[in-house]
Amino acid sequence: MDREKVTISKLQQKKESGNKITMMTAYDYPMASLVDESGIDTILVGDSLGMVVLGYDSTVPVTMDEMLHHCKAVSRGAKRSFIIGDMPFMSYHVSVEQAVENAGRFIKESGCDAIKLEGGSDMAPVVRAIVKAGIPVCAHIGLTPQTATMLSGFKVQGKDAESARELVESARDLEAAGAFMIVMECIPDLLASRITETLAIPTIGIGAGADCDGQVLVFHDLVGLFERFTPKFVKQYVNLSPMIKAALVQYKNEVEEGTFPGPEHSFSMKKEEIEKL
Ligand code: KIV
Repeated sequence: MDREKVTISKLQQKKESGNKITMMTAYDYPMASLVDESGIDTILVGDSLGMVVLGYDSTVPVTMDEMLHHCKAVSRGAKRSFIIGDMPFMSYHVSVEQAVENAGRFIKESGCDAIKLEGGSDMAPVVRAIVKAGIPVCAHIGLTPQTATMLSGFKVQGKDAESARELVESARDLEAAGAFMIVMECIPDLLASRITETLAIPTIGIGAGADCDGQVLVFHDLVGLFERFTPKFVKQYVNLSPMIKAALVQYKNEVEEGTFPGPEHSFSMKKEEIEKL
């Protein structure tokens, strides 16, 4: 496998040559190492960590400090994959200056290669300013979980011509503002396909059909570590939760029965030495 660092130009080449781009979320060192070693192109340190790692009910409470803490661990674990840090809610909404400053912290303090932020055409000036500061931006349109209340919940977006047109406009505006890639969440496959054809930059889908330039899933959904709910777009490749629970129950039973630790897990010393005590 090619161990060279993935770059924006490699991602762009993949779009141009019709090779699919792979993206997976990761939130800590061991997860990032596994994703990196599996040859996945990009790691998203998503603010989904608020739900799947920190146990919040939504991504809204996630803070800059929490994001940076996890991004640092991921960048220690991933050497090849291109790392994108997700800007949390209210870290880029107050002013363009606040957005540039916080985007800078992802790059300077946490070792991310780029940042991601949610929003359509309204966010174009923010994207433009962050890119002007030399920070690559991945945009995110469609279902934007940080502002799901404004969208009346976690629903498929762009199902009628008017809202679909708005999403196409948003994608164009974000590309024109300098975004190098765009995540499209929960939009109909035909619309995602149209946006993918329209844009020169790569599109990454999650619940957006097979015609996007690449796909992303949340790590915990893919391996069965998040049991609260499973969106329709998730494919669970392995169900780790029952395996982990079985291992924990076995450990508990063995400790209680006295069969763990065995001699193979213990350290010996000469009997005479203990008798000298
Ligand atoms: O936070 C996240 O993990 C995301 C992906 C679902 C795209 O934004």
